[in-house]
Amino acid sequence: MDSFLIKGGVALRGEVEISGSKNAALPIMAATLLTGETCVIRRVPDLSDTRFMVQILESLGAQVKFENGTLTVRAQKIKAYADYELVRKMRGSICIMGPLLGRLHRARVSLPGGCIIGARPINLHLKGFAALGAKLKIEGGYVDASAKKLRGATMFLGGRAGSTVLGTANVMMAAALADGVTVIESAACEPEIVDLANFLNAMGAKISGAGSPTIIVTGVEKLRGAEHEVIPDRIEAATFMIAAAATNGEVTLKGARPDHLRAVIDKLNEANVSIERKGANMVVRRKGKLKAVDVTTLPHSGFPTDVQAQMMALLVLTSGISIITERIFEARFMHVSELARLGADIEIEGPSAIVKGGKPLSGAPVMASDLRASAALVIAGLAAKGTTQVNRIYHLDRGYEQMDAKLRRLGARIERIQE
Ligand code: EPU
Repeated sequence: MDSFLIKGGVALRGEVEISGSKNAALPIMAATLLTGETCVIRRVPDLSDTRFMVQILESLGAQVKFENGTLTVRAQKIKAYADYELVRKMRGSICIMGPLLGRLHRARVSLPGGCIIGARPINLHLKGFAALGAKLKIEGGYVDASAKKLRGATMFLGGRAGSTVLGTANVMMAAALADGVTVIESAACEPEIVDLANFLNAMGAKISGAGSPTIIVTGVEKLRGAEHEVIPDRIEAATFMIAAAATNGEVTLKGARPDHLRAVIDKLNEANVSIERKGANMVVRRKGKLKAVDVTTLPHSGFPTDVQAQMMALLVLTSGISIITERIFEARFMHVSELARLGADIEIEGPSAIVKGGKPLSGAPVMASDLRASAALVIAGLAAKGTTQVNRIYHLDRGYEQMDAKLRRLGARIERIQE
C-alpha cells in the first residue's frame, strides 16, 4: 500500500488547477445508462472511483472509452444485474439503480452496506422508487426493484440528517423515464444535483427546480445521447484553500466556482483567511493570525461534511477553542485520533469535536481512514514540523486527482512511497 512522506513547514505558493468533481461525475456516468445512444462527458477526473465506475458500466454491457479526461459511453444493450463484488467496493455505485430501473424497469443491485464514516442506509432511495411504483424485495444481500411501468408521484425524501444527495440523484434518473410528473420534496440542493439535472436535460429530460428543495421531473418516453462538461470539484478546491491557509502560503485556485463554496469561504473569512477573486481565479492567503471558529456541517448550502476533517486540521493550528459539530455522518471523526499523533488536542463530545488549538504539531506516522480524513492528515503534515508519513493513501487516490503532484508544484515536499 502506497504512502505519502511529507516534510512539513513549507508555505504553499503558486497556482493549482481544480479537477472535475468526483461526486458530480459518478451519477452522471451512471446516467449514461439511460440511453442506448453515445454520451460524451468531459472533465471527468481520473481517480480510482471513476475508473471503478467505468468497470461497473462495462460489467453491465456498456462500451466505454476513458481518455484524457473524456469519457465516451455507449450503453446500447445492458443488463439489470450488478454484482456484489463490484458494488461493495464503492458505495457511490448505488446510483446505477435509478437509471437501470428507469430504462429496463428492473434493477438488481447489491446492498452497499455501511462504511467507516457511518451506517449509510438507502431507505430514502427505496422510498422514492416505491413511490414511483416499483416493487422492492431485499433478498440475499441484494435489492431487487421492478415495475411494469414507473409512474410519476409526489414524494418527500427528507430523512434523519436532512436531504440525500445520491437518493435525490437516483430518483431523478428513474423519474426521467416515468409516466407523468414526479415532485421530489426535500430534495438535495447540492451543485452535483444541478449538474446531473443539466446533463439529463441535455439528454432530453424535463427537469426543473434542481438546486432547490423541490424538483419537478416530467417523464419523457426516451432519452438521447448528449455531451457534457462536469463542474469543478468544490471539495478539492476547499482542500487546497485550507492547505494554503494552514501553511501560511498564497495559492491561486484556477477553475473553481466560488458560488459552490460560499459556506467554506465564509468560515475561512471568519478564521481570518482572505479569499480574493481575480477574474475566474481565487487567491487564498491568511489576513493575519488565524482565529478559532465554530463549524457545523449541514446539507448544501451549509458547510459540507466533506470539508469537516480538513477544516479541523486548520483549526488545530489556531490558538483558542473551536467546536466542530458533525450533523451528516455520525462516525466521521476517525481523523481525530490520528491528528492527536501529530500533537493536536481534540476531545469528542457527542456529535461535536472540541479543538483546543495552538499546540505545535510535529511529524509522525499516521493512518488514513477515509478519503477526507486522509486529506486532513496531509494538510496537518504540511503544517507540522518534521516528517509525517501518511499511510494507506489509496483512500486519497479515490477522490483526489494527482494530489501529490499538485502539491509539489506548489512547493510542498511530498513524495509517494510505493510498496
Ligand atoms: N441517509 C439516510 N437514508 C438514505 C440515504 C441517506 O438516512 O436512504 C442519510 C445518511 O446516512 C446521511 C445523510 O442521509 O446521514 C446524507 O447522506 P447522503 O445520502 O446525502 O450521502 P450520499 O449521497 O451517500 C454523497 C457523497 C458523499 C457526501 C454526502 C453528503 C457521492 C458519491 N458521495 O453521499 O461524499 O459526504 O453525499 O454530502 O456523491 C466523499 O466524497 O468523501 C463523500 C463521502
